[in-house]
Amino acid sequence: MARPKIALIGAGQIGGTLAHLAALKELGDVVLFDIADGTPQGKALDIAEAGPSEGFDATMKGTTDYADIAGADVCIVTAGVPRKPGMSRDDLLGINLKVMKSVGEGIRDNAPDAFVICITNPLDAMVWALREFSGLPHAKVCGMAGVLDSARYRHFLSVEFGVSMKDVTAFVLGGHGDTMVPLPRYSTVGGIPLPDLVDMGWSTQEKMDEIIQRTRDGGAEIVGLLGNGSAFYAPATSAIEMAESYLKDQKRVLPCAAYVDGAYGLDGFYVGVPTVIGADGIEKVVNIKLNKDEQAMFDKSVDAVKGLVAACKGIDDSLA
Ligand code: APR
Repeated sequence: MARPKIALIGAGQIGGTLAHLAALKELGDVVLFDIADGTPQGKALDIAEAGPSEGFDATMKGTTDYADIAGADVCIVTAGVPRKPGMSRDDLLGINLKVMKSVGEGIRDNAPDAFVICITNPLDAMVWALREFSGLPHAKVCGMAGVLDSARYRHFLSVEFGVSMKDVTAFVLGGHGDTMVPLPRYSTVGGIPLPDLVDMGWSTQEKMDEIIQRTRDGGAEIVGLLGNGSAFYAPATSAIEMAESYLKDQKRVLPCAAYVDGAYGLDGFYVGVPTVIGADGIEKVVNIKLNKDEQAMFDKSVDAVKGLVAACKGIDDSLA
């Protein structure tokens, strides 16, 4: 059986890291696409030359021609511009919306059966626009945010509790921005929910609140430290986790920006929710029960995303 084909649209910091990880994990043959001629070809060759030492079997191709993504099983989209210090993800909207139009059309015309994972920010609005421009089924187009946000939350919690990250689960809902909704009630250490751990005296409510804020600001913290770009290792790893669940039909329960129609009181809207990812794409949206406070935070987050979607419609008439 032929190896799966993974198309990476955008061969920048995240795109290159995605290609390297896909090769190391032997998820399939990789095509790196970018508009900056030389970049995708150079990265593809560089990663291919790591093959003999690593011992992976995967071909790497760099291209500026959409025809080369033909028949891709997975497309991961990072095309666009990242944040600079002082910018919010929302500041990228105008530029990246135009990029989503060309990428959406490129996928529609060349890889209409692919499972598409969008990473470009502002994520929730860009994944919506990408789906509109591509016309692919909603279940086959999603956005990577929740896996990354919950990984950041898990990392901070594991440091606070002094335990392995493997034993920390965390739950983050809503948009990928300042209004994201980390849910302590559904986040655990060894299966024990965070509020119980505070009751047990293992940590304090103040510390838990600090960690939630640091999670919300997780992307900005890295933008501030790097000074010339945004995070790329953890975002790439998170998207690879989602792609692997699709390609291997793992049916992982992963939070991602998915099309929600019915659940959470939403009628046809992209936002961060827990999902099951398998061979059919987003196979299920897990509709958890929120308490009043959680629902209020979620609604606020949804409103923020709705504002961005409205702004997209204002910029591009074809989306209205
Ligand atoms: N089509 C294809 N590639 C494009 C296009 C386009 N229309 N426009 C820009 N690109 C390419 C750039 O040439 C660049 O190589 O997208 C790549 C983006 O790479 P980086 O600038 O290194 O950005 P990166 O850190 O990878 O982040 C990409 O993901 O997390 C988000 O906010 C981040 O929106 C940003 C995206």
